[in-house]
Amino acid sequence: MGIGPEIEPRERRRATTRRGLPLPPGPGFSLDRLAGFRRETMPWTMRAVARRWPGVAYLGVPGRHLYLVSDPDLVRQVLVTDGRKVDKGEALRTANIVLGEGLITARRARHLPRRRLVNPAFAHARMAGYAAGMLDAARATDARWRDGAHVDLSREMSRLTLDIIGRTVLGAELDWQHVGRELTIAMRGWEALMVPGGAWYLKLPLDAPRRFWAAADNLHAVVGRVLAGDTADSVVTEMRKARDDGAALDDAAMHDETMNLMLAGHETTALALTWAFWLLAQHPAEAAALRESLPDGDPGYGDLRKLHYAYAVVAETLRLFPPAWILERELEQDLSLGGWPVPIGSTVLASQFVLHRDPRFWPSPDSFVPARWLDPDGRFSEDNPGVPRGAWYPFGAGTRICIGESFAWTEAVLALAVLARRWSFRVDPGHRMALHAAITLRPAGGLPGTVERVVP
Ligand code: HEM
Repeated sequence: MGIGPEIEPRERRRATTRRGLPLPPGPGFSLDRLAGFRRETMPWTMRAVARRWPGVAYLGVPGRHLYLVSDPDLVRQVLVTDGRKVDKGEALRTANIVLGEGLITARRARHLPRRRLVNPAFAHARMAGYAAGMLDAARATDARWRDGAHVDLSREMSRLTLDIIGRTVLGAELDWQHVGRELTIAMRGWEALMVPGGAWYLKLPLDAPRRFWAAADNLHAVVGRVLAGDTADSVVTEMRKARDDGAALDDAAMHDETMNLMLAGHETTALALTWAFWLLAQHPAEAAALRESLPDGDPGYGDLRKLHYAYAVVAETLRLFPPAWILERELEQDLSLGGWPVPIGSTVLASQFVLHRDPRFWPSPDSFVPARWLDPDGRFSEDNPGVPRGAWYPFGAGTRICIGESFAWTEAVLALAVLARRWSFRVDPGHRMALHAAITLRPAGGLPGTVERVVP
């Protein structure tokens, strides 16, 4: 799957910025490289660049200073210690045309007060209630599957996590087919926005841009209907109650935050589960170990802390196929990164895919080894691999760290525990797995295969 050897050092025409600041080495820009840009190979290209130019690499892109950092300390510097000197990059900021101004897209200055208002909805004390919805949704999937049925597993997991978002975040039932379809179209439009000229393309009177705007409108209409109706206990009801220094979320803020959560909370976890089933399908011994580790009978929220192997499978999946595979920050001040002066306005990339597979920290970095997350007593901890903190950050770090982190762990571990207990997944023979790396890391063309009942 790797394409590392294709990356050759090349002479850069310009070794300094316009202000005369020296530029770190890197692959430079060429038209043939641009022509070779493929979403399938992008993560591997990033990894090859990081190996060839470790620390800080300069990715020459016309009109843009773009850097890739690949040392854990530099990742932490950009996301955490200098987190107040950077803002979200263009890709996430521009998403506000679909998502509105919510936690994902908010500029730094507006982010913190918002985050304080949304945080209580994700407090630990709320998790048991949400877990009940997660378990019900997973059981509904379990009840729906038929032995030998041919499915697209990524679609199944998308349906499952949308069901969970409906039950726990919105407190309302969602028409998963309608919302799933519109979310997919909206995500494609967002991807188009990330490509130079994307915003311009989306204004053209063509079918695809029209569908994109219609999907965005339809999603806003879904959120509007949910918020106008009665919502059961959920993230939405908690957000409605939230007060901070007398401030509350007004109607527009409620709408945009709900939209942000619907999008951020659905696809990422669906992908984590999809990749987990794909990896388990390739590794029957680990799939059997998972099954044997699960309690007899239906797992419940009270079992969560005992599901060590399921946690290890989820962690190892997030390591190898981080659904958020790269983070982008734009500098609001000059910074020094690894001794290189990086000017204000530059974009810095920090890729989880690259750091999570760095052989300096992870033995057998490309292998699926859930056991690396377990101590000798078989207990899971994120500390067990003993890697520096910036080498493991599937949920980001610093002030913009994922608000749904423990929600997602609970959801993924419980769903896996319910489904892997009775089902295994067999990928279609001949199916070629390829990556589609955009905002998230997806299996290109979904994941076709058969669900097979392992326990009668
Ligand atoms: C495996 C599942 C998930 C992964 C891998 C993931 C990953 C991430 C990452 C890496 C970020 C930081 C982005 C950045 O710094 O640019 C983020 C932010 C965010 N995530 Fe998640 N996420 C997951 C699940 C969820 C869930 C379930 C929800 C909500 C129900 C959620 C809501 C959010 C929100 C609102 C933000 C923005 C937070 C802020 O800036 O304050 N995520 N997520």
